[in-house]
Amino acid sequence: MKALILAGGAGTRLRPITHTSAKQLVPVANKPILFYGIEAMVSAGITEIGVIVGDTRAEVMGALGDGSQWGAKITFIPQDEPLGLAHCVLIAADFLGDDDFVMYLGDNLLEQDLAAFVHAFESARLSSEPPTAQILLKKVPDPHRFGIAELDAAGNVIRLVEKPADPPTDLALVGVYLFDRTINDAVRAIAPSPRGELEITDAIQWLVDQGKIVRQELLTGWWIDTGKLTPLLEANRLLLEVIEPRVDGDVDEASSLDGRVVIEEGAVIRNSTLRGPLVIGKEARIIDSFIGPFTAIGNGCEVVNSEVEHSVIMERSRIIDITRLEDSLIGREAEVIRSQKRPRALRLMIGDHCQIDTE
Ligand code: DAU
Repeated sequence: MKALILAGGAGTRLRPITHTSAKQLVPVANKPILFYGIEAMVSAGITEIGVIVGDTRAEVMGALGDGSQWGAKITFIPQDEPLGLAHCVLIAADFLGDDDFVMYLGDNLLEQDLAAFVHAFESARLSSEPPTAQILLKKVPDPHRFGIAELDAAGNVIRLVEKPADPPTDLALVGVYLFDRTINDAVRAIAPSPRGELEITDAIQWLVDQGKIVRQELLTGWWIDTGKLTPLLEANRLLLEVIEPRVDGDVDEASSLDGRVVIEEGAVIRNSTLRGPLVIGKEARIIDSFIGPFTAIGNGCEVVNSEVEHSVIMERSRIIDITRLEDSLIGREAEVIRSQKRPRALRLMIGDHCQIDTE
């Protein structure tokens, strides 16, 4: 069993962050989203991993390296244009060979351990009616945003549609799929969709139309497609809620820590109140400030004389003299300064290297 992780694409919905960096490398609970996917594959026993990379390939390749930090072997597969999820399978043909594989969308985060899902497919493959594919479904309140599955009374997959205006069900396709080699024929047989992409949804529909068995499972835990700000902050919240408290940094006596708090090595906390769940990255400095629940402060950040809550602050950014910053995503090496005269809370999504002076 191999894995194909998709980390190309455009990431328009997380602009301006994704003007300069890959959406799959935005951190939640101070770890890039993509790393959770790699870890999920490795803990399901899959170490041969192909990663589709697009315009942001240099950054993604730099972050993942050869995969040895996870005991995995990573092969990068460049995609010149984001021509669709099925196009990714097409260009990964040499890497995949005739092997079964998991396809994992690099911007998806799941609570559920995927080992059971993978093993269910492996054992079904040994049965008298082996499936050629297995999909994971989750009931969602906004089905027009996803690929949607329709099942018959016995639970067999009968139809799949991509982002329908009028969804037939509320069963969304989660970004984890299992395939045998037949999918290679499917991705060659389909035509681009009206949005100009080779859709994996259409490729799976092709399998169904050929009379192949497509297994489905309903996901029990949470699942987040992190492509937008609100779900990203939600993922950050869910992951921080279960973080193991740990203090490796330097906290002075004038500071207080409450709840699940992680303070990484080299971080300095002075005269501040930290109310978890939250994480403070390596070498960060928190001075005369309040850091509230569901906040992830990246490595090397500086927060001085400010209040920050329910936000993701990426590496080496500075928040200085801000009355209150909440529900925000701040890019790398950004600066947000001075709003003490304004009692209003700031809600921001700002890109890497930006400087915001609110005075
Ligand atoms: O998140 C689940 C949904 O993911 C499914 O319900 C949909 O059926 C499926 O089409 C997909 O929809 P999205 O519109 O959310 O996919 P997105 O364009 O965000 O791409 C998902 C990941 O794949 C993302 O990490 C970028 C990467 N990608 C995407 C395309 C189109 C590539 O690497 N290459 C591509 O050509």
